[in-house]
Amino acid sequence: MERILCIIIGYALGCIQTAYIIGKLYKKIDIRDYGSGNAGATNAMRVLGMRIGVLTLAVDALKAILAVVVTALIFGYDNKYLLLYAGIGVVLGHNYPFYMKFKGGKGVAATLGIVAAVDFRLLLLAGIPALLLLLTLKYMSVASLTFVLLLPIVTAIFYLKGPHGVEMVFQTLFFTVSAFWRHRGNLVRLVRGTEVKMGQKVKIED
Ligand code: G3P
Repeated sequence: MERILCIIIGYALGCIQTAYIIGKLYKKIDIRDYGSGNAGATNAMRVLGMRIGVLTLAVDALKAILAVVVTALIFGYDNKYLLLYAGIGVVLGHNYPFYMKFKGGKGVAATLGIVAAVDFRLLLLAGIPALLLLLTLKYMSVASLTFVLLLPIVTAIFYLKGPHGVEMVFQTLFFTVSAFWRHRGNLVRLVRGTEVKMGQKVKIED
C-alpha cells in the first residue's frame, strides 16, 4: 500500500509537463508537433531556445525532487526504496500524462532529479560519464541512455547488500527500460545517422 501511495504522489507531480505547458503559454504551440516530437527539455531547447530548454530541465528535475521530498516527509528519508517508488511515479506521470492523451516525454530530466534527491553519489557516478559523452558526441539521446544504463549498476554498488537492495536495483532498472523504450525513435535515427545533435535549432513557421 505504501508503495502504491508513493507512485501516486509521484505521478501527480510528474504530470506537471513543463515543455508542453511552456510551449502552450510562450508560443501557443504543442511542442509535440515540432522537432523530435518529444515533450521534454531537449526538444524545448531545440524548438523554443536555450533559456526555455534550461528552464524546462530545471522544472522537470525540481518536480521530481519535490516528489522525493514529500515522500521523505511522510515515510522518512532512509526508506530509499519508497523514494524510488515516488520516482517511478514521476517518470510515469511525465511520460504518460493523463491530460495529454498519455503522450508526454522520455523522463530523463525527471530521473536526474529523482537520483539527485535520493542519493547524490548515484547522480555523479552515472551522470559524469554521460556528460562527457554529451560534450564529445553532442547527442543528448546517447548521453541520456548512458546515464540510465549506468544507474542500476551504481545502485547495485551502493545498495545491493542492504535492505531492499534487490528491489532498488530493479527500480532503477525500471528507469533504464522505460527510457530505452521512449528512445526507440532516437535509436533508429542514431543507426541511420539522422539523429539531431545538440545546438541545432528548429524554426517554428508562423
Ligand atoms: O531526454 C531526452 C533526450 O535524450 C532526447 O530528446 O528530443 O532528442 O528526442 P529528443
